[in-house]
Amino acid sequence: MEYLEVQGGNPLRGEINISGSKNATFPILSAALLVKGRMHFSNVPKILDVLTFTKVLESLGVGVEEDTDGFTLDTSKDISSIKDSHPEEHNLRGTQTLLGALIGRTGEAKLSSLGGCNIGTRPIDLHLKGMQALGVDLKWEEGFLTAKVKDKLQGNLIYLDFPSVGATENIIIASTLAEGETIIQNGAREPEIRDLINFLNACGANIEMNGSGIIKIKGVNALKPADYSIISDRIEAATYLIMGIATRGDVKVRNCNPYYFEPVIMKLKEAGAEVDVYDKEVRGRFRDHIRGINVKTLPFPGFPTDVQPQMMAFLSRAEGTSVIIETIFENRFRVAEELTKMGANIKIEGNTAVITGVSSLNGANVNVPDLRGGAALLIAALSAEGTSRIYDPIHIDRGYENIIEKINKVGGIVERKAESRIL
Ligand code: UD1
Repeated sequence: MEYLEVQGGNPLRGEINISGSKNATFPILSAALLVKGRMHFSNVPKILDVLTFTKVLESLGVGVEEDTDGFTLDTSKDISSIKDSHPEEHNLRGTQTLLGALIGRTGEAKLSSLGGCNIGTRPIDLHLKGMQALGVDLKWEEGFLTAKVKDKLQGNLIYLDFPSVGATENIIIASTLAEGETIIQNGAREPEIRDLINFLNACGANIEMNGSGIIKIKGVNALKPADYSIISDRIEAATYLIMGIATRGDVKVRNCNPYYFEPVIMKLKEAGAEVDVYDKEVRGRFRDHIRGINVKTLPFPGFPTDVQPQMMAFLSRAEGTSVIIETIFENRFRVAEELTKMGANIKIEGNTAVITGVSSLNGANVNVPDLRGGAALLIAALSAEGTSRIYDPIHIDRGYENIIEKINKVGGIVERKAESRIL
């Protein structure tokens, strides 16, 4: 069984380069199916989820060539509308945007159920409502979702009850080649949505996003191939910034857009950290103490749910009490139990976590509950006294490129090991 062995107590100091965004990569590579031709994608993170995703694309008939910075996709051949379950795919949520992409490309889609981190029930009613509004018939058959365009894809006015990231992406992708205009009201405003729109517009689409959740897509007849560079990963940047301060260190995250994770920066400042923001870099330093603060997760531009577990680990050692309210996913406090094994004092009541800060955490054997929970455990273990073993690191590998190398380069001590366990 694999684990990460972490020696705690060393302040991280130095610079960390941020990789391309995981959550921008999936919708953009999905949207490439709307185009016929060869396209190069750069700044793509080489993480497990992305490598699995490219295997899924290959199984649909896409030519995939990997290079040091990314991938070239060749979408000129016939694309299959049937996406069966890939063996490594059960934790991958990114395939959700293949629904809109296959409908847009072939007029139909047959998809196995969607995976993703176990952080909530993750319904897809808003995706389905959007597809139906565009003229798609949907059925569930033997575990597969079957979608078929009735006559032709037709633009429509679609109101989302919640600004779901995945549903907004699917509607944008499916309506790009539809007839007429689609208007999404209360759409998601995450930077990954804008990146998807920028890619599609570079291919000749006609999409406008005004920043207040209204997205207008005027259908076009065809798209042409375009090479594209993916934006930086705001969640990765926020994770290392928190990690540096949590270890009482001084870390600069480079090649990132600070605006994308401003709420995290503001909250770290509120907690007493010194944070300097530059054009494409952010430096975070521990000053003399961290005080407890309150955090509420919200859709962008609010505090991101994907940084909530890391913040929980960070606040475990703050002075005083902190309250975290999680409003996006109902099952996202699973890491609290593992942090408790390290000496944290966390009480969960529904969607609220109350964290009473302790002066130190101790190394322990812990299990990664999900991707961001894994990042939170690394933050806790690096700032704890003694050695920790973090089991099941595969979840971390799914979302963080070269994480061990990046941490060790700034003074952390993390080693990947394996042991045989007698069951
Ligand atoms: C994406 C991100 C994930 C991030 C999340 C919120 C990817 C691959 N994953 O996930 O890392 O945590 O955005 O920023 O990009 N909902 C419905 N019905 C739907 C769809 C969603 O009720 O049809 C609810 C969900 O249960 C959840 C909330 O909406 O409570 C947010 O989900 P959504 O924004 O869709 O997240 P994902 O696209 O799954």
